[in-house]
Amino acid sequence: MKRRLLTVTATVTLLLSGCSVDWQGWAGMKQQSKALPYRESGFFSDDRAMRQPPPGTVPRDRRGKDRFFLLGKDGPDGGFVEGNPLTLTREVVENGAESFEVYCAVCHGVLGDGRAQVARNMGLREPPSLVDLPPHPDGYYYEVISRGYGLMAGYEEKLTPEQRWAVVAYVRALQESQRARLEDVPPEARPLLLKEGTP
Ligand code: HEC
Repeated sequence: MKRRLLTVTATVTLLLSGCSVDWQGWAGMKQQSKALPYRESGFFSDDRAMRQPPPGTVPRDRRGKDRFFLLGKDGPDGGFVEGNPLTLTREVVENGAESFEVYCAVCHGVLGDGRAQVARNMGLREPPSLVDLPPHPDGYYYEVISRGYGLMAGYEEKLTPEQRWAVVAYVRALQESQRARLEDVPPEARPLLLKEGTP
């Protein structure tokens, strides 16, 4: 134990003695001319220190994805994509449910029916029910989730394009669930619903 302590002390002493701080150099580094965010800079022609990415830059995580997928639209001025570009699997819908419950349910309700405490308290504009909206293509929902709508903020920063499409799939599932009749349910599952008192 004692020997180990000695070794540690010796190592620390050796390390410290090998390290001389050049305070003058440090001050020089701190005060060198450099571009700070949101500051002016005479170096660039637009006098801004912060640079824009060159037009058409594609973030690394979007490589190989087409415009339909990223914008929900058929080209820059085109109409909304009709269907969901994801292959709909149980996993996709469940992932959508997870994001919906984190990001949307507070306002639009867990069932998407607009019944939520936050909705009741949003005096300016109550979040609408999503289950009885007029018919819209899937791309419309994708656009609203990405860019926002009126008073609602967009979720482009929070949800990846895949997650947004998955939320669209789940909103569709919620809409279907509200309109579903007993005949839409597989025969083997019907007794279960009837047992739980669902008409
Ligand atoms: C902070 C509350 C809030 C959250 C969270 C929220 N919304 Fe909204 N949403 C609103 C409000 C309010 C409106 C209506 C805005 C208006 O008309 O100005 C709206 C509108 C919409 C519409 C458009 C309805 C129409 O009339 O066409 C859709 C679709 C929608 N939201 C989906 C979502 C989805 C999906 C999420 C989750 C990713 C979400 N919202 C998260 C408050 C919210």
